Amino acid sequence: MSRGNQGVDESDGSPTAGTDRYGPPCWFADTANVADAGIRDRFAEDWPDCWTVAGDMLDWDREYETVLNRDEGHLAWFGDGRLKPSHNCVDRHVAAGRKNAIAIRWIGADGERESLTYLDLQHEVEAVAAALRSLGVGPGDVVTLFMPNVPELPVTMLACARLGALHNVVYAGFSADELADRMASADSDFLVTCDGYYRRGSAVGQRNTADSARLQVDADVTGVLVGRLADDPDLGRDYHSYGALRDEFAGAEVDPVARDAADPLFVLYTSGTTGEPDRVTHTTGGYLSYAAWTATAVLDIRPEDTYWCAADIGWITGHTYGVYGPLALGTTTLLHESPADHQAGGHPWASIERESVDVFYTSPTALRSMRQRGAPPADEYDRSSIRLLGTVGEPIDPSTWHWYRDELGGGEAPVVDTWWQTETGGIAVATLPAVDPMQPGAAGPGVPGLSVDVVDDDGAPVADGEEGTLAVQRPWPGMCRRLASEGHGAGAGRDHPDAWRYVTSDRAVRGPDGYVTLLGRDADTLDVGQAAYGTAVVERVVSALDGVTEVAVVAISEDDEVAAYVSCDRSSTDPDALAGRVRARVAREISPAVRPNRVIIVPELPKTHSGKVMRRLLADVVSGRGYGDTSALRNPEVVGEIETVTRRQE
Ligand code: WT7
Repeated sequence: MSRGNQGVDESDGSPTAGTDRYGPPCWFADTANVADAGIRDRFAEDWPDCWTVAGDMLDWDREYETVLNRDEGHLAWFGDGRLKPSHNCVDRHVAAGRKNAIAIRWIGADGERESLTYLDLQHEVEAVAAALRSLGVGPGDVVTLFMPNVPELPVTMLACARLGALHNVVYAGFSADELADRMASADSDFLVTCDGYYRRGSAVGQRNTADSARLQVDADVTGVLVGRLADDPDLGRDYHSYGALRDEFAGAEVDPVARDAADPLFVLYTSGTTGEPDRVTHTTGGYLSYAAWTATAVLDIRPEDTYWCAADIGWITGHTYGVYGPLALGTTTLLHESPADHQAGGHPWASIERESVDVFYTSPTALRSMRQRGAPPADEYDRSSIRLLGTVGEPIDPSTWHWYRDELGGGEAPVVDTWWQTETGGIAVATLPAVDPMQPGAAGPGVPGLSVDVVDDDGAPVADGEEGTLAVQRPWPGMCRRLASEGHGAGAGRDHPDAWRYVTSDRAVRGPDGYVTLLGRDADTLDVGQAAYGTAVVERVVSALDGVTEVAVVAISEDDEVAAYVSCDRSSTDPDALAGRVRARVAREISPAVRPNRVIIVPELPKTHSGKVMRRLLADVVSGRGYGDTSALRNPEVVGEIETVTRRQE
């Protein structure tokens, strides 16, 4: 099968639409953290030593002499350095006279607000570290954290880091089986969880899920329970009280444990829209420095900012850009119990106004859901505090991109589309907002120091404009430990930097300007006839149609047919007419080969807990294969209706 050029052209909506470009606004570039136009060349010439720029953002207990060690093919960033991650995220800001700056501002589901200054954070982290130590937690132990976005979660993560223990955060919406799998696989004998939390206005119990997971795990698990619903939750015989322990150890001083740069900082399982969850381990020095540097260079975060990363801490986005990156920089990170699109009124404007948010980072999925609910009138909420907007998680179609910039950025704020993965630790492909023009729909070039390419099935680079798989050709400090020891698709001579390579599983195309457009995961590719099409190519042109809110295209079993699942604004859109428009547009702008044979209008698309559309499930439904377990979905209730609508239309 050909994976070659599929007739990508320069018309509107094409994957490499190159005409639609916006330069960095002057008012932004004048004050941005990184505005050096020569930075990519400098990094390329000076690699790997260029990465001292990231390493030097941290305090080291033993300075590193080598930026990249390459012993026996194993790559270790800042390999001979030692550092204390919780000192870097907490204590050093207190020591630098910023003890009263707000580190974490938490906003609960019903609007209550709690602020921790850097000094408060240090006290909390020390008390919880002392408590965990009294329960037996020490360097190298794995502590599983099963909590939503509550202040106790980042506090406990940093307390683990302070002891040299690894945290293993499991997204709070996961089932008992999933929690048990992740505890057993990570060999974790400690569990910190909560009695419950609030979601969409109602209390959700968490304790029972944690209890049944513990029954499935062979190890003797030590449990700690946070009271989120009750101040004094029933502990039974199985839990220590987080609140009582914290009070008991209040005022304790716990010296942070220094770790080797390559020592693990935490483990985290990938969300997996396609396969089994996969354990990813991140390093202390490389990961933390990369989190800090990309938060500075790409998200332009400054210590005096109020910054809102709308992701749940249960995903890598929340780890890197909700906790470690912003706290390493000494900024104020906002933590919301409810996702951005579940705020009162279904939108984030009220919080943006009240907290004077400078930088906002969210997913295209959340943006599409806010857009569907409708933006409040422009004069109702002041959003003039916004300086930069970012997105992550899925390709963002130009139509949603423009809506984001207009409605949240007042038509002015730069938007960065950031491509990365749990494995990459931090942003790998993005524009630098003060340096590179923005191109709606394209993520951009590699982050300085990362050389990205698009390769064919044999690993050979394809020509610009041709479709292939995204590959990163050089190691970077944020890469996970597995990549450091193996690379991926790396050829012989691994210790030669130019032979190293990480082939991702994302389809992509690169334009002549070096900008990469992501076309969806390899597993989601539409194979029709003699060609393969990235789902994002087709979805993008459908998204641009008036009235369309969300779309996912999938192949129907083996018959070379395509189905488009579309949700639309029913008040203004006639579904029958829409189906015709969808077909015509895809045939005209891409190819009759992928014209959807079926256009199925549904109220909502099925999404994973981390907000990714689950195309695999749609493909199973439309192919009549039965779809099995839906526990990986955040909206399993829509599947029944999707199935009914699909069958009714046959
Ligand atoms: C996968 C990684 C990195 C935090 C989010 C989830 C997709 C991510 C983009 C983007 C197109 C994107 C890719 C990638 N993805 N960002 N800006 N444009 N696709 O981390 O759960 O490890 O998922 O998310 O398919 O491989 P994750």
